[in-house]
Amino acid sequence: MTTDQTEQAGQAAYLDATRLAYDTAAGAYAEIVPPFFGRDPFGLAMFRAFADVVRDGESAGRVADLGCGPGHVTAHLRDLGLDAFGLDLSPKMVAEARRTYPGLRFEEGTMTGLDLPDDSLSGIVSWYSTVHTPPEVLPAIFGEFHRVLAPGGHVLVGYKIGDRLRHLDHAYGHDLSLDVYWRSPEEVEERLAAAGLTVRARLVREPDDFERATQGRQGTLLAQKTNSTAP
Ligand SMILES: C[S@@+](CC[C@H](N)C(=O)[O-])C[C@H]1O[C@@H](n2cnc3c(N)ncnc32)[C@H](O)[C@@H]1O
Repeated sequence: MTTDQTEQAGQAAYLDATRLAYDTAAGAYAEIVPPFFGRDPFGLAMFRAFADVVRDGESAGRVADLGCGPGHVTAHLRDLGLDAFGLDLSPKMVAEARRTYPGLRFEEGTMTGLDLPDDSLSGIVSWYSTVHTPPEVLPAIFGEFHRVLAPGGHVLVGYKIGDRLRHLDHAYGHDLSLDVYWRSPEEVEERLAAAGLTVRARLVREPDDFERATQGRQGTLLAQKTNSTAP
């Protein structure tokens, strides 16, 4: 196998495993996760800042919630006054999101190859949707973010801080198979910068009472497409 073929096989394996895991756990995830999001005042402050810079930007247009899961983040973006839609790899997650938020638009798709024109979005949110992505696939995803963002557009990334990979055989009450990556802020920032996305703000917060046993610090980065061509 050539290096390209090995990389493509790795990417396909990650997408298949992640899709299957979330198809298995979609119902349980939708019940468990929304309260966690609403409990995080620091993350919510970053969402308000994101909404402000997107609204004030020159490219006022649609905002994509990529890896939207059950759609609660998409709904929050709508409540912040943004023209938001969701996209997820897992058909079952998309079905959950459509059932819960019938007034919003949700599509199936993958961040590794977005079915969207160049320069077409004013904002992207990737809220913990790259936590299953192997490091070698991140450049393809951040490259897609850069391609579909209009010049001056913004991206908000939520991620788990650390330096480890854990394989889950069980989660959300289901047997499944899923890799979870913890990353340093430096690594995520460098990878965004390599894709032409310049970090404008960064948040590092301590785990809350519910997260302390199993999680570490949590990170949020707000970056901007400052040059129209990828580096
Ligand atoms: C940890 S969940 C986060 C869901 C949601 N953003 C939230 O905060 O509740 C990760 C989600 O990202 C989706 N996902 C992972 N890789 C993806 C990819 N390459 N393209 C689209 N969605 C992806 C999964 O299907 C899953 O719904």
